[in-house]
Amino acid sequence: MNDESLVALDRQHLIHPVINYHAHEKRGVTILESGQGAYLTDSQGNVLLDAFSGLWCVNTGYGQNSVVQAGEAQMRKLPYATGYFHFGSEPAIKLAAKLVEITPVSLQHVYFTMGGSDAVDSAIRFIVNYYNSTGQPKKKHFISIERGYHGSSSQGSGLTALPAFHRHFDVPLPNQHRIPCPYAYRSSQDTSPEGIIAESVAALKSKVEELGVDNVAAFFCEPVIGSGGVIVPPKGWLKALQNCCNELGILFVVDEVITGFGRTGTMFACDAEDVTPDLMTMAKGLTAGYAPMGAVMMSDAVYQGLADGCGPDAPVGHGYTYSAHPVSAAIALEVIRLYEEGLLANGQAVARHFEAGLMAMLDHPLVGDARSRGLLGALELVANKNSKARFDPALKLSERIATAAYKNGLIFRAFTDNVLGFAPALCYTKEDFDILFERLKRTLDEVLEQPDVRLALS
Ligand SMILES: Cc1ncc(COP(=O)(O)O)c(C=O)c1O
Repeated sequence: MNDESLVALDRQHLIHPVINYHAHEKRGVTILESGQGAYLTDSQGNVLLDAFSGLWCVNTGYGQNSVVQAGEAQMRKLPYATGYFHFGSEPAIKLAAKLVEITPVSLQHVYFTMGGSDAVDSAIRFIVNYYNSTGQPKKKHFISIERGYHGSSSQGSGLTALPAFHRHFDVPLPNQHRIPCPYAYRSSQDTSPEGIIAESVAALKSKVEELGVDNVAAFFCEPVIGSGGVIVPPKGWLKALQNCCNELGILFVVDEVITGFGRTGTMFACDAEDVTPDLMTMAKGLTAGYAPMGAVMMSDAVYQGLADGCGPDAPVGHGYTYSAHPVSAAIALEVIRLYEEGLLANGQAVARHFEAGLMAMLDHPLVGDARSRGLLGALELVANKNSKARFDPALKLSERIATAAYKNGLIFRAFTDNVLGFAPALCYTKEDFDILFERLKRTLDEVLEQPDVRLALS
């Protein structure tokens, strides 16, 4: 089928995630055809450097033969095994044990999902069940962070604190609350690491007090706020929030859907600060996007609460047909082997080129802030570097930048509030980073040449 017919069929039938539907119909789809290493090729034959690992997930890079072989072998042997009725499969059991081995010691049990949204949704269901099971039925309130992203399930979208996910969807729910984002670049308070940490801890304490500690179930956060603009809290922030939750007696849930599997340097962001959450959600890098899979992990205390609470003859009524899918599990095991046998170390070694490249972009007239941890980073574009004034949204700067970048053979995420997000694969080389920053600079220079953009700089 030729490209034109595919574009027409897409326009008629395929609903894309988080997009303006009519704008998409007008623009048409860009069809990606193949990938190798850090590079993608589209249906027109354009070769593009992917600086976003698909959707911050293809941490291994494309075309990893051993991963393809692991999936193929499992498909031939046993393409599906239900986890219901006490059945299971070897790869899923091995993967559960592997995840317990490589995550913080507090996490002892795994429930597998198809991605991140249903991992968060499962976490919420388990937490509600846990408190009902353990005689604390008043604990129904959930707290998350402004600009946080926790997927788009019916409940998770309410923990997500981005307006697009709330509008017309009747969330957040009355039991979902937020504290301010640790956004140093845009904070008017004390922006020292200690100041940022103290502010978040104080905000969480005061929110829990306001709701009443007996009514609060859990606090959810990302170690680096991803979809909200790659906002990097200072080192020590995550641990301080864990300590605060422990003191208050509420469950501490770390959402490592983006930060897990080497994205921020260590296997999990929790590892860098010796954080031991009560629950953790993960997806994306777990299978590096080669098959859909996510997971929610929990402490033994939470697991035992659920197990004891359902009584001798009743099930814990939470399940998915594709939970612990053997093909996804076989793929995840091979992907983790790649991380452990070189990719994680490579990601750590090349992260300095990434950081140096981002920092050098601060000299560009459009760039107000550069921030990163490991291979997760962002540039924030501003109309005025002193006042940090944002560009008028009417300029549609993000769209212009994404279009110009694509023409220059580069893909990254241009968020609507003019934050450019980057999540290069762990297989990147120094040369890949040289290409990334050369193409990025060229892109920003070209956009700056547009008279209305230059005029908007003050
Ligand atoms: C931190 C976080 N949690 C949850 C999700 C939802 O994951 P998914 O898109 O796989 O449903 C995402 C997706 O980007 C995420 O970044």
